[in-house]
Amino acid sequence: MKQADSREHLKRSVLNDFDTQSARYTERYDLPGTGEVLWPRHRRLLEVVDSFGMRPGANVLDAGCGPGVLSRDLARRGYVGVGVDGAPAMIRYCAQQAVVHGIERDWKYAISDVEALPLPDASFDLVISAGVIEYLPGDGPFLRELSRVLRPGGRLLLCVTNRYGYSEIFHSLLYRIKKIPGVTGAASSLRRWVAGGQHGVMTLSFVPRRHRPREMEPILARHGLEFEADRFAHFTLLPSPLSTLAGKLTSRFDRKLERLDRTRLRVLGSCYLTISRRTA
Ligand SMILES: C[S@@+](CC[C@H](N)C(=O)[O-])C[C@H]1O[C@@H](n2cnc3c(N)ncnc32)[C@H](O)[C@@H]1O
Repeated sequence: MKQADSREHLKRSVLNDFDTQSARYTERYDLPGTGEVLWPRHRRLLEVVDSFGMRPGANVLDAGCGPGVLSRDLARRGYVGVGVDGAPAMIRYCAQQAVVHGIERDWKYAISDVEALPLPDASFDLVISAGVIEYLPGDGPFLRELSRVLRPGGRLLLCVTNRYGYSEIFHSLLYRIKKIPGVTGAASSLRRWVAGGQHGVMTLSFVPRRHRPREMEPILARHGLEFEADRFAHFTLLPSPLSTLAGKLTSRFDRKLERLDRTRLRVLGSCYLTISRRTA
């Protein structure tokens, strides 16, 4: 297969996975004690956004917004903006929730490829993208787009999966195990029993990429983004999937572990968040 074809093939399978399992992904936000990355990442993102002290009405893009949980919390802070995602089911859910939460005038949602945004140059004060870059075939086209739509001086908050994150230690092994017939069904039943919810475990038809924290600064610089600061999040007592199964017992402790971001052990957090600014 030619490189361009395999890129498109990967992107299509990613979007198909998130489109067909959007309810399963969204449900993970309804089960906060499961030891998964979503809530620790979400809390850290909001903490960083709050530290910027942006004026109400600042214009934000959430690139790869999934079910839009972040955009609804940003709306509560008075920020307006756009959420884009390539999975139609995610965008349908965001649009429906926007009405439920009364934010449909301030937040618009669109189905779009994050590598080709239908948005004007220099139109956002802040661009956030959490847990998306790892599902793309590479960094370049995506970061070029995010940089293009940021106004000069505007900030990018980007979360990547940390290659050295302790909680993801079984990452590749789990992917292979889930391919064994019957494993996903059994894991889903176990998850429903222990963690609750109806939808069970997510299955992906590809292995997401992971980044080395140290490589991010030069990667951002190549796209006109000047590195300002970083944060790590998602420290769990047990690695995934044990953290999910034991989440009800360990979640209070896991939450305290988030303080490790202020220590040398911060490199063990599974979520690496960079703050950078678009240069003029
Ligand atoms: C792990 S979810 C993260 C969602 C959300 N940012 C959050 O923090 O919950 C990844 C999202 O990226 C979206 N995505 C992946 N590849 C994409 C692409 N090429 N264009 C647009 N969205 C994409 C998926 O549809 C999915 O909703």
